[in-house]
Amino acid sequence: MMDSIIFTHKDQQYKTVFFETFGCQMNKLDAELSLGLLQEEGYRIVDKADEADVILFNTCSVRQHAEDKVYSHLGALKKLKKRHPEIIVGVLGCMAQKDGEAIFKRMPHVDLVCGTRMFSRLPELLLSIRNHGSHVLAIDEDQIVNVKRAVAYRANMYQAFITVMRGCDNFCSYCIVPYVRGREISRTIADVKEEAQALVSNGCKEVTLLGQNINSYGKGLSGNVTLGDLLSELNDLDGLERIRFVTSHPADMSRDLIRTMSRLGKVCEHLHMPAQSGSDQILQRMRRGYTAGYYCDLISYARELIPHIAVASDFIVGFPGETDEDFQETVQLMEDIRFQNCFIFKYSPRTGTKAAGLEDDVTDEVKRARNLKLLELQKGISLEENQKMIGKKVQVLVEGASKSDSNKLSGRTRQNHIVIFNGSADLVGRLIDVMIHEVTDLALYGKLENYP
Ligand code: 5AD
Ligand code: SF4
Repeated sequence: MMDSIIFTHKDQQYKTVFFETFGCQMNKLDAELSLGLLQEEGYRIVDKADEADVILFNTCSVRQHAEDKVYSHLGALKKLKKRHPEIIVGVLGCMAQKDGEAIFKRMPHVDLVCGTRMFSRLPELLLSIRNHGSHVLAIDEDQIVNVKRAVAYRANMYQAFITVMRGCDNFCSYCIVPYVRGREISRTIADVKEEAQALVSNGCKEVTLLGQNINSYGKGLSGNVTLGDLLSELNDLDGLERIRFVTSHPADMSRDLIRTMSRLGKVCEHLHMPAQSGSDQILQRMRRGYTAGYYCDLISYARELIPHIAVASDFIVGFPGETDEDFQETVQLMEDIRFQNCFIFKYSPRTGTKAAGLEDDVTDEVKRARNLKLLELQKGISLEENQKMIGKKVQVLVEGASKSDSNKLSGRTRQNHIVIFNGSADLVGRLIDVMIHEVTDLALYGKLENYP
């Protein structure tokens, strides 16, 4: 497919790119890495599809709704592509990996289908389309993603994400991720450290390590490497102030890692560890490998060692066979744990997964009602927990102007609360103390304390 590229890499004809991303943080980072590669090739990013020579969607397959959105965006491009056949339209990421060739059948005006492990070859793939003008399909799932990160091209100068492992071997019964992201592959500590060092040298103060199943980081690497080892190494990096990691799986989260977290000064008091359900029966059918009791004990242990640790979770409502009693157990778990925040999803059957063989027997109406109930419950808990912060001084890494009020600054605490306060632009990128005097369920509002 790539053997007869005629145009040079500095092709001057295709200069603008529009990129839209759906789904998780790793997708957002892949988009950033892809755009970095394209910018190095001379592309300019535009924020309107009809001003672009190349239109790319980085897609998500985790729920049907996310796929429907992309197909509707693609459909809307048909007319534009008819008027300007030279425009390249590409589908990247999970949906590309999952649907492959079928995307060309359903949307013949799409030129490129590029899977989850091929985006680092985007510049070549685009050239290939330019030269051959045909559909290009690149979905080799055994590829190791190896991107030379262009650190200068990133969304936030002071906070960055680093992918440390890709893929998932867990096969939870509802989840498409192992099928679209492939088996777990970890990057070496040296590799991650080098990327972190480059980011820090470029002004970055906080890194969030990404992996679909981050607690099994190191599996497959030589020498029994663990996430704890990686955290310890990064903790020693001069200039780096904070480290986070997502997403944790309760069955793979070791007490040893919790002890390591409590020991390392730069690792933030924050854990995103989805419970998914509070019912043991449902957890078993989800193939999660733990019980609600086990989950609660793990959180108790973490809170014992790291008193102010904030815990976030995901929940799925309406999994096949979920009764009112099962749901009530989820409500109970939420009340017992008191999460900082939660993402709540209605179950969406994914073809090819184990659960797709079970009857999707909870009606949409019930799913919606359960979703709403959990959202409201969590909103109340978040508000009450945030109210406990009033009168407290928190350390904030200032990220930039607040999205809701551009006259104010916004940043995050170590526990990942959003903090909004008055201050001048020279504070951006600094760690400062803010006194909290007002809160909502979503954010803390405060006044600047003394800063150096
Ligand atoms: N239906 C609904 N939600 C899902 N998730 C994963 N698969 C599905 C599905 N089939 C949710 C889980 C996961 C989050 C990223 O998406 O809660 O933690
Ligand atoms: Fe979506 Fe999951 Fe793929 Fe992330 S890994 S893009 S959430 S399907």
